[in-house]
Amino acid sequence: MKPGSRDERDAREEEGPVPELFTWEFATDPYPAYAWLREHAPVRWTELPSGVGAWLVTRYGEAREALAEGRLSKNPVHHAEDSRARGKTGIPGERGADLMTHLLNIDPPDHTRLRRLVSKAFTPRRVAEFEPRVRELTDRFIDGFAARGQADLIHEFAFPLPIYAICDLLGVPAEDQDDFRDWAGMMIRHGGGPRGGVARSVKRIRAYLVELIDRKRAGLGGSPGGGPGEDLISGLIRASDHGEQLTANEAAAMAFILLFAGFETTVNLIGNGVHTLLGHPAERRRLQESLARGESALLESAVEELLRYDGPVELATWRYATAPLTIGGRAIAAGDPVLVVLAAADRDPARFGGPDTLDLARRDNPHLGYGHGIHYCLGAPLARLEARTALAALLTRLPDLRLGAAPGELRWRGGLIMRGLRSLPVEFTA
Ligand code: HEM
Repeated sequence: MKPGSRDERDAREEEGPVPELFTWEFATDPYPAYAWLREHAPVRWTELPSGVGAWLVTRYGEAREALAEGRLSKNPVHHAEDSRARGKTGIPGERGADLMTHLLNIDPPDHTRLRRLVSKAFTPRRVAEFEPRVRELTDRFIDGFAARGQADLIHEFAFPLPIYAICDLLGVPAEDQDDFRDWAGMMIRHGGGPRGGVARSVKRIRAYLVELIDRKRAGLGGSPGGGPGEDLISGLIRASDHGEQLTANEAAAMAFILLFAGFETTVNLIGNGVHTLLGHPAERRRLQESLARGESALLESAVEELLRYDGPVELATWRYATAPLTIGGRAIAAGDPVLVVLAAADRDPARFGGPDTLDLARRDNPHLGYGHGIHYCLGAPLARLEARTALAALLTRLPDLRLGAAPGELRWRGGLIMRGLRSLPVEFTA
C-alpha cells in the first residue's frame, strides 16, 4: 500500500465495501467493480497482484486527459520503485530480450521519429490492399471446422487469424509462420503467469527478427503477399534509408511491437466480440439481417460498439509521472505509475448514454478502446479490417452459431492489461 494514500479524502470516497479486484469473479465480469470505482474512488492507488502499486483512473474525462498528459511518460526508467518492481511492468519478456526501444516504451522526440517512420510503411493503403488476404485466411480457418458442427473459436479462428495476418504484413516467409504461431501461443498462454516460457519465446522471436531484418536489408528476402520487398519490414528499412535513422535495435523492437500489439488484442476483439453478440440475440439478429442485405454501415458501427462494450485492452499500458501532477483532484507524485482503465472509462454514464446497453448502431461513440493521444493505436485500421471480415464471415457462413458451453463455464484469462477468453466453444449446424 502506498504510504499516505489513504488520507481523509480516500476514507470519505470509499464509503461502503470496496470491491475486491483481480479475483476470479472480477476476471469474469469486472464492470460492477469498475462502476463502483468510477463513482467512489475514480483515481485510486491500488496494489496489483504482482505487488507493484499504481493509480487506477476510471472516469472517461480523466482517462482521456491522462492518455494525452505529457508529464506521464511511457519510459519505465521514470518508475520510482526499485528495479525489481520495474521488471514487473511492461510486456512480459521484453526487458530480458533487449526489446525496450519500441513505441509503447518511449516518449517524444524518439517516439515522434519512430512513429513517423513506421507510419510511412504502415499506410492505410497497405492495409486496404491486404483485405483479400484477410478474407482468404478467414475462410480457410472456417473451412477447417465448418463440417464439424462445433469448434473452439479462440484456438481455431481468433488466434491464428491475426498471427498469420501480421506475419504476412511484416514479410515473415510462409515457411516460418508456424514457428511464430507457436511462440505467440506461448506468450498468450503464459502472459499473466510464470514468465520463464514467455522470456524464452520472446528471445526466440527477437533472434529471428534480427536475422530477418538483416536478410531483408541485404536484399535477399522475398515477401509473401506482395512483390519482393513490398512488406512492412522492407518498408521500414527503406523509410530509414531516406534520411531518418532507425537503429538495428529499434528495427527489431518495432517489428516485435507490431507483432505483439496486433496479436492478442485482435484475438480478444474477435473472441469478446463474438461472445458479446451471442449473449445479445436481438442485436446479433439485427446485424445478421443487415449483412444479408449486403450493407456495411451497421457492421462498421458494431465493431466500434463491441470495442466499447467489452474491448480487448482493459487497461492502457503503463505510464509513469515525470513530475508531480493532479488527476481528478488527486496528487500524483513523480515516479508513480498510472494505469488508465479503458474498460471503465468506456462505460462511464457521464459520457455514454445507456453505457451498459449494447447498441450496435451507436452513433456518438468516441470510445477509448484504441487509446488516445500520441500513442493512439497504430494498427486500428488493420484491427478494424480483421474484425469486420471475421464477424461478417462467421455470421454469414454459420448463421445459427451458438455458445457450446453454459455461460458460467467460460474462463477468462485474468491478465492485467488484456481482457479475453481462454476458449470459446461454439456449436452450429454443419
Ligand atoms: C497502441 C488497442 C490492434 C499496433 C495501442 C493502444 C491501444 C491499442 C489501447 C494504446 C496503448 C496505450 O496508450 O497505452 C488495440 C486494439 C486492437 C489493436 C483494441 C485490436 C482490436 C493493433 C494491431 C496493431 C497494433 C492489429 C498492428 C499490427 C499498435 C501499436 C501501438 C498500439 C504499434 C503503439 C502506438 C504508439 O505507442 O505510438 N493499441 N490495438 N494494434 N497498437 Fe493497437
